[in-house]
Amino acid sequence: MENIRESLLEKFGEIFGDTVDAKVYFAPGRVNLIGEHTDYNGGHVFPCALTIGTYGVARKRTDNRLRFYSMNFEKLGLVESSLDDLTPSPEADWTNYPKGVIWAFGEKGMKVPGGMDLLLLGNIPNGSGLSSSASVEVLTGFVLRDFFGFDVTNQDLALIGQFSENQFNKVNCGIMDQFAIAMGKKDNAIFLDTADLSYEYAPIILKGAKLVIACSNKKRGLGDSKYNERRSECETALAELQKAVPIASLGELDEETFEKNAGLIENEVRRRRAKHAVYENQRTIRAVKALKANDIEAFGQLMNASHVSLRDDYEVTGIELDTLVEEAWKVDGVIGSRMTGAGFGGCTVSIVKDEAIDEFIEKVGAAYKEKIGYNADFYVVEAGDGPCVME
Ligand code: GLA
Repeated sequence: MENIRESLLEKFGEIFGDTVDAKVYFAPGRVNLIGEHTDYNGGHVFPCALTIGTYGVARKRTDNRLRFYSMNFEKLGLVESSLDDLTPSPEADWTNYPKGVIWAFGEKGMKVPGGMDLLLLGNIPNGSGLSSSASVEVLTGFVLRDFFGFDVTNQDLALIGQFSENQFNKVNCGIMDQFAIAMGKKDNAIFLDTADLSYEYAPIILKGAKLVIACSNKKRGLGDSKYNERRSECETALAELQKAVPIASLGELDEETFEKNAGLIENEVRRRRAKHAVYENQRTIRAVKALKANDIEAFGQLMNASHVSLRDDYEVTGIELDTLVEEAWKVDGVIGSRMTGAGFGGCTVSIVKDEAIDEFIEKVGAAYKEKIGYNADFYVVEAGDGPCVME
């Protein structure tokens, strides 16, 4: 840690002249264990923050300038803007995320009174679906609170991050990613009811097994538009159900009530989308019960069922994620495996017994390379804390 801190400060000094008054911060990435595409359907999710994430070095300025530098995108160099021009633009690239959060504070009645210099370094693999953008958003909010004493909780930081992503960056995401990051707790996952934001922590006790993330390295393309398409399919299905069933969201339905009323949904594709949302929510509730009862095997089975539903009913997997998961299922010592995050690329998450991890990485890696033509990357991860100042 000390090493990272020192080398970040050194880089900050190189880019911004000196390190006077600069502070070092960290915000994690996240992985979702189960409860996928339920957060915009009023359902439950069960993500955890990771120990990998985004480091930031920041200091206040006495003028209105905003100067940003990312060690992950060094070719972009120093990207400048100003508090007087908080609008998104393609040239601003990744800096649209911190800018969006600064803008969002203003929209919520907390006008940011001065500029800042900000240097970032992320160790979340790029475009992996482990929420590097939400990590940058929560980090920025955390820095602003620290600088200016805004009266906001970590939960507010999550909501402000989501608001900025929806309104400034025009990505219609749910609350899961920002919430998991802002509220992260070491060795715990967060069982969150997205209908009312009530939540509880559940220790991830895996008894001789670990969480392994496999990154497909698939370049994402159509992802965002498909994401919005799934959202609107669910909204239409909900409106059709509401003609006869008094519900505010798909998350309010159990499987039985859904099956009784599924005929109200006029089209077969939408029926499958809604079915996933309903069943996945119930699976998530059951999975957390299983984990609390120390029944990891049952938890793993529910992860597997989640993947099948995302593959067949929600159709957000694709050959890369399916290959990673289906090869994982063949390895002895794999307790459960599924895609995680939005899908269409990104990562899978698996629970793998300690003694099987090497074989898992070798076998799944080789089969993936053989079938897809390029490598997957593997990370053994742990659940970590939310954002912090690194003193
Ligand atoms: C992305 C979104 C989340 C959530 C997941 C799917 O990560 O940002 O809000 O909808 O996809 O579960």
